[in-house]
Amino acid sequence: MYGMVNRALQEMVEGSQGTDVWERVKTRAGVDVEVFISTEGYPDELSYKLVSATSEVLRMSVDGVLEQLGGHWILQTARYGYGDLMAAGGASLAEFLVSLPEFHSRMTAIFPELNPPEFRVERNGERGVLVHYYSHRTGLTSLVKGLLRGLGEMYSEPVTVTLVKVRGQGSDHDEFAVSW
Ligand code: HEM
Repeated sequence: MYGMVNRALQEMVEGSQGTDVWERVKTRAGVDVEVFISTEGYPDELSYKLVSATSEVLRMSVDGVLEQLGGHWILQTARYGYGDLMAAGGASLAEFLVSLPEFHSRMTAIFPELNPPEFRVERNGERGVLVHYYSHRTGLTSLVKGLLRGLGEMYSEPVTVTLVKVRGQGSDHDEFAVSW
């Protein structure tokens, strides 16, 4: 994954726990990278190791770390680092979610090596959608939950996010019901 993902985790940990704690996370993960470069590719394995080490050092569940990272990604990384891209996503939560399937494909010109997830979105009542999430990767369900909650916060819409179908349990992908 592009380094911006590892950087986001670093900023999240450093922001609440300080630099020393992030150094402990890296040591525990066996990751010897001084500075993550946002636009450079790193093995997925490295990001998974950092998330797992964060969960151990902070005594949080891996799902808790991923969900927090999703919120941080939307409210800090994307908002302040990629504000134009986010603004192009829509003027309301509903608009953003409906255009989510195209979101990452708009970025492939800037990030040619992007291997993004795929989303399919269908309307579900007046104030809701079903978000279908497909990925080449596994284990990132809670990240998506945090991202969707973060989007609600970004648009100041109190949002409910419920995992309604789980990949590997009678479904080939995760499905979330999002309502506001
Ligand atoms: C400007 C905003 C955004 C940027 C710059 C961005 C960029 C990226 C990048 C670089 C990756 C790592 C994949 C790779 O490097 O191959 C990624 C992964 C991911 N993105 Fe985004 N993204 C943004 C917004 C969003 C939003 C709004 C959502 C959904 C609500 C989202 C959902 C995900 C998920 C779930 C992954 C994990 C990869 C996977 O599931 O396979 N992203 N994104």
